[in-house]
Amino acid sequence: MRVVVTGNLGYVGTVMTPIIAAAGHEVWGLDTGYYRGCILGDLGETGLSRQIDRDVRRVTAEDLRGADAVIHLAALSNDPTGELNPGLTSDINYEASVRIAGLCKQVGISRYIFASSCSIYGQSDAGALTEDAEFNPQTAYARSKVDTEAAVSALADDEFSPTFMRNATAYGFSPRLRLDVVVNNLTGWAVTTNQVRLLSDGRAWRPLVHVEDMSYACAAALAVPRERVHNEALNVGREEDNYQIRSIAETVAEIVPNCVVTFAEGASADNRNYNVCFSKIRRVLPEFEPRWNVRKGIEQLYRAYTETDLNGDRFGGREFTRLKQLQHLLDTTRVNDSLYWL
Ligand SMILES: NC(=O)c1ccc[n+]([C@@H]2O[C@H](COP(=O)([O-])OP(=O)(O)OC[C@H]3O[C@@H](n4cnc5c(N)ncnc54)[C@H](O)[C@@H]3O)[C@@H](O)[C@H]2O)c1
Repeated sequence: MRVVVTGNLGYVGTVMTPIIAAAGHEVWGLDTGYYRGCILGDLGETGLSRQIDRDVRRVTAEDLRGADAVIHLAALSNDPTGELNPGLTSDINYEASVRIAGLCKQVGISRYIFASSCSIYGQSDAGALTEDAEFNPQTAYARSKVDTEAAVSALADDEFSPTFMRNATAYGFSPRLRLDVVVNNLTGWAVTTNQVRLLSDGRAWRPLVHVEDMSYACAAALAVPRERVHNEALNVGREEDNYQIRSIAETVAEIVPNCVVTFAEGASADNRNYNVCFSKIRRVLPEFEPRWNVRKGIEQLYRAYTETDLNGDRFGGREFTRLKQLQHLLDTTRVNDSLYWL
């Protein structure tokens, strides 16, 4: 297949494109490039045969014509960036995602894989959440995922099969690293300061998935007959990687030498707390075999951070924290208030 990966110059996309290419597909990337130069270590093979420099709000039918599938990753990708300007999150994450789905239909692209998120479940004490659980989005980011799923699902028909990958919180190394996701962040504190200081009691639960496994799940969804994943939502992850934040910190301290963990009293200001069930993806997509777990992921990050010499300045800088990089582009008038390049 010829597969367009939007958001290919981000944390997940940089890891995903070579994996999709290795699965035998021709891969086109489409991205506006907010984090293009934010690279730790070597970029490695991209697997791309074409790069389309485009904002997702301005994608045209001609950009997509000739492709067989779209994996739509491009987004303002975390909760704090959503709060920066909720209107912008809606424009980029929701409106553009629905528009691209419409363009896919227009040019005869039958497969649309959407990077949704388990954060749509928000906060819940209801035990392990299945895909039928009630949504409880806590942020503009999570609401954009709920709204996109609803609107794109309504476009499904005999010629168009969207699939909604509700990814757990990603972890693991990517050359376009993110340090604003929890496992990568706590490992970064440990490596650069020998301390992991939680600002809460760390009892909140969070489902986690390695960035490579996220990519393998998309590859598996492309490989199976369309009917199997037609208009389906799938939680992407594994039960064993539902972690309490404090256990992540403790695992980091077991792996990074001379690391001390401290906790504060009370719950976190980030009120996401949920435990997710992954039995549907095992049933619907048995071809997806996760290869990572959190411990292995922390070991990978530890090696990568020490080999690439991630120091305190880079750890605290803008390159690997999405909100800081966007703020830098705004402050230096590289982009306007709507995040279009100037
Ligand atoms: N990382 C996670 O923990 C996680 C978890 C669940 C779901 N997801 C979803 O996976 C996707 C990828 O996440 P990520 O962690 O790689 O994020 P990221 O911020 O690293 O990458 C997002 C990419 O999208 C691009 N982009 C943003 N706005 C754009 C626009 N207007 N036009 C064109 N390109 C634009 C950025 O330049 C960037 O390359 C997102 O949709 C995210 O919501 C991520």
